[in-house]
Parts: sequence; C-alpha cells; structure tokens
Amino acid sequence: MSDTSFYLERRQRLLSKMQQGIAVVPTAPEATRNADTHYDYRFDSHFYYLSNFTEPESVLVLLAGEKPQSILFCREKNLEKEIWDGFRFGYDAAREQFAFDAAYPIEQLDEKLIELMGNQPVLFYPIGADAVWDARIIKSREAVKAKARNGIRAPTELRDVRELLNEMRLFKDTHELDIMRRSAKISCDAHRRAMRSTRPDMFEYEIEAELLHEFCRHSARHPAYTSIVAGGANACTLHYVGNRACLQDGDLLLIDAGCELDGYASDITRTFPVNGKFNPAQKDLYEIVLAAQAAAISAAIPGNTWNMPHDAALRELARGFIDLKLCHGSVESVLETESYKQFYMHRTGHWLGMDVHDVGEYKIGDQWRPLQAGMTLTVEPGCYIRPADNVPPELWNIGIRIEDDILITAQGNEVLTQAAPKTVNEIEEVMRHE
Ligand code: GLY
Ligand code: MN
Ligand code: MN
Repeated sequence: MSDTSFYLERRQRLLSKMQQGIAVVPTAPEATRNADTHYDYRFDSHFYYLSNFTEPESVLVLLAGEKPQSILFCREKNLEKEIWDGFRFGYDAAREQFAFDAAYPIEQLDEKLIELMGNQPVLFYPIGADAVWDARIIKSREAVKAKARNGIRAPTELRDVRELLNEMRLFKDTHELDIMRRSAKISCDAHRRAMRSTRPDMFEYEIEAELLHEFCRHSARHPAYTSIVAGGANACTLHYVGNRACLQDGDLLLIDAGCELDGYASDITRTFPVNGKFNPAQKDLYEIVLAAQAAAISAAIPGNTWNMPHDAALRELARGFIDLKLCHGSVESVLETESYKQFYMHRTGHWLGMDVHDVGEYKIGDQWRPLQAGMTLTVEPGCYIRPADNVPPELWNIGIRIEDDILITAQGNEVLTQAAPKTVNEIEEVMRHE
C-alpha cells in the first residue's frame, strides 16, 4: 500500500462510520511566539491523520452518503509568497497528490460550506476545540438556515467528529506502527547518548542538548513534549522542565524525553546515576520500580483491561515500599489505604500516538476497557521520595521513573523502546567511560 492509500482508506472508513452528513475538520492555526516570530508550525493531529497534508490554513470536508466525497480547502499557489516562505502545493496539485475528490482555495471555504451543508442532516465537527472555528461553523449553519424559504435545510444534528476519530486513532495501522517503531528507535538512541554524555558538574541543559541533537540528526526535528532532565531532588517534581541545574556527583538523573517523527510521539523515561554507579539505596529503590514496570508490562496483554498494568505495578511498589520501611502493614492494607500515594501519585501510563497523551477512551461505560491488538500505550511506574519525618534520610530526594512504549499484539505485547538501557547492569555498562 502506498502512503497515500493509508490516508485515503482512513477517510473512507470515517465516511462509512458517519453514514450520512457532512464533516468539517480544520487543521491547527499558526501561533505567534512573540512580535512577528511564530512557533514552529504543528498541524492538527486529526486533520493530518486523515489527509497527510501539513500546510497551515487547510480544512478537510467530508460528505457521507451514496457518493462519498473528500474535499480539501488549502492555500493557493503564490510564487511571490513562496519566495519568502517556501513551497506550497496549491489546491490542484494537492488534490492530485493526496487523492482528494476535489480541492478549492481556502478563501472559498465560507461560501462553499453554505452550499455543502445544505440538506445535510448531520454536521460532524470538533465541537469546542477552537472558539474561532466554533463561531465560523455556527455562522455558516445560520446562513444555510436563512435559505429555508428556498427549501434548503440546515443540519439539525451536531456531532463531535472526534468521537469517531478518537476510536479510529486508538488502533494503529501498519503505516503508523512503522513510524512509531522508528520514532521509538531514535528516542532510544537519544537516551543512550544522554547516558554516555553525562558527567558530574555538567548542567541539565547540556544533556537536553544531547537528546535534541540525536532527535534532529535523524530528522525528528522536535521533541514530542518538553524534555524533562531532572537531577537529584528535581526528579521529585513530576513536570520539571527548568533543566538548568548542575548535576551532582552521587545524584540520580531522571530523563523523560521522546521525539516526534512524522507526527508520531515516542515517550521514554530512564533514570541513571550521574557518576555512572548506583549507590545501595538508589539501587534498592530502582529495582523496586523496575520490578513494578516488569509486572505492568506482563499485564499489558490482550484481554486484560486498562487498569490491570497499573494494579500490577501498584502491588510491586507496595511490596517494595514495605521492605524499605517507607510504608507499613500488609500489601493489601497499603493498597487499600493508598499510603503508597505519598511516593507514587500518578497512574502507570496513557495511550500513545500522534499526541503523546493520545486520544481514545479508557473506559467503556463504567468499565475499564479491554486491551486489544493495535493499541499503543506507555508503562511508566515511578517513585518520588521527598524529605519527610517518616522516610529514612538515605532515601530523601530520590526520584525514579522507568517508561517504555508498548504495542499490544495478538499474542501479548511488543516493547517498542526495548533498546534503551534499563537494568542496573546495562546502565552501568553503557556509562563505563573509556
Ligand atoms: N512525558 C509525558 C508523560 O510521560 O506522560
Ligand atoms: Mn508518558
Ligand atoms: Mn514520559
């Protein structure tokens, strides 16, 4: 299958799920960083999933029914502007190259929408995602309503197109998995590079630079989220992104970083000693988190439900916390009273895909949903030990998280990020400097 045919097939699948009506899926707007400087442009994930088209100011319109159609609205070619800002397809070339049924200049969108919405019973649209688009779509619908005396009806039913798209995106096709495997590989190499580069007295941002270098030189020009490079106590701040501190001999370094490749995120956390050697207290805690992660990965198999990897990790963490006198009582009582939450306060993973916290429901009705082949998720238990009267001082300020990206397969699972060193021996081996 060519790349284009994957996107065509997704549009056809969405059209058949819609059954009837019109869908409008805009891409993301450009965003100003300051003055006349923009953030690097990132398309909307839903739009890209259906189109493979990366230019801003684009909108996809789908018409379901007996003669389904997909229509692109995009920028016209403009040789003058292209001198400054680079190539743009223009609607004719875009229609041909990306296999749309029709394409028009974006300037015609409002006028054409009034025409295309006429007599459509249902309007599918990302309701509430963007206030400017909300107003524009409602205005178009009102304009259709104004044509009632001509016998033209406006859609009476408004549905969120993301209900259908989120469920489609939850199950990755072979094209997506190919990209996700490559994205994961680049991020694994970046973590290995970070381990090799780290020395006491370096700054967190120097290690961040090593990660970005490795991403970029493999064409993944952006991280999927801001890299967390957290030495010592900084690792106990879950969303630490300051990345400015000096790395201390004897501390651990927690790195949560992954690249985005062709629109797909990877998301890896590794924790390792700044000086290349775990001390006994660090090692004890590390082995507990590693065992929790192994238990969670073993539970991430088809048929098990979403919460089972989390529950498996919790059980191992509770057992370990009791051994280290961080928690007291039986495993059951630690789980029941949730006393582990002093040291482990987040859940064990999330869906992964185009968005790092990817779309897709976690429950069906009020039940955790079963894991199924084609789903991709992270498994990321951790522990974060802040100074406290009830904590042995040798464990203070240790933050550890271990995170891998997992594909659920028919037989079990595949760890996409296996190549990032993870055991104590593997890490110490990689860090043994020549
Ligand atoms: N890096 C974001 C997360 O692990 O969820
Ligand atoms: Mn994650
Ligand atoms: Mn992460």
